[in-house]
Amino acid sequence: MAYVTATEKDLHEKPNEETVSVLNPYLMQMKADILYHFALGTETHDFPSMFGDVKFVCVGGSPSRMKAFALYIAEELKLGDSQNDIPNICAGTDRYAMYKVGPVLSISHGMGIPSISIMLHELIKLLYHSKCSNVTVIRIGTSGGIGIEPGSVVITNQSVDASFKPQFEQIILGKTVVRSTKLNADLAKELDQCGKEINEFNTVIGNTMCTLDFYEGQARLDGAICSYTEKEKMDYLRAAYNAGIRNIEMESSVFAAMCNISGLRAAVVCVALLNRLEGDQISSSHNILVDYQQRPQKLVGFFIKKQINDPCLSL
Ligand code: URA
Repeated sequence: MAYVTATEKDLHEKPNEETVSVLNPYLMQMKADILYHFALGTETHDFPSMFGDVKFVCVGGSPSRMKAFALYIAEELKLGDSQNDIPNICAGTDRYAMYKVGPVLSISHGMGIPSISIMLHELIKLLYHSKCSNVTVIRIGTSGGIGIEPGSVVITNQSVDASFKPQFEQIILGKTVVRSTKLNADLAKELDQCGKEINEFNTVIGNTMCTLDFYEGQARLDGAICSYTEKEKMDYLRAAYNAGIRNIEMESSVFAAMCNISGLRAAVVCVALLNRLEGDQISSSHNILVDYQQRPQKLVGFFIKKQINDPCLSL
């Protein structure tokens, strides 16, 4: 099978740093576009007036967490009352949920690469149709830590695959296309600095391994199927740690690849629910897990507030 490498240098257009690029000439020829999984369309919705002011998009797996994030941001930015409900813009579908608070969009993406990839195609088109500029996209989520304290927040340096390579492979027209999964280093440093300023939990910058599965794909011994020994599992996780990997999740690779191609400044901020060198099961109490899950939200909320209040940044 032919092996095509499509790194950034192969992309036929250098993405403009300010606006959102859609690398699809066919899209420009379409008179109307239906974003089916958002239940939104350019003929039925006025995208520029609905979304033209969006500067930050935060995405995460669960609809209820992304609603909680929107309510949290509303309170932080003093844009509404956290007791009031915020409407789900994608109420016409149960695939994804979307909330808007001033310049911040909060969207759920479900679990795994296929689910986030579909959402990102439609998000990037939404930002393009809305004529948005200078947009930062941040994935906030949960992960399994490697060699770090549970509750630590990992800011991804680069996403790597299950062989520790910084790339996302996709089969397109029967050929393997490889895309870069590097993330914006300055943004990662800015987020890490925010973590230090909050000073309530540990933050680290490290590589994030993105897998296709929660169980065997992440070397767990507690799935319905396990085809390796405990020693093989531990050797693999220790090798991951030695390769600079500090956490494992299931969406960062395609997220990084698609944001890179589209000229979007992007980051991944995930809390570690456990240390995988010490076990596989997520056994902390409900209250502890709720506290952990709020940490990426707190960090990203702090960052957004700082950016919005920075007189040097013309958002
Ligand atoms: N999410 C994952 O993908 N893995 C974990 O271990 C925890 C959360």
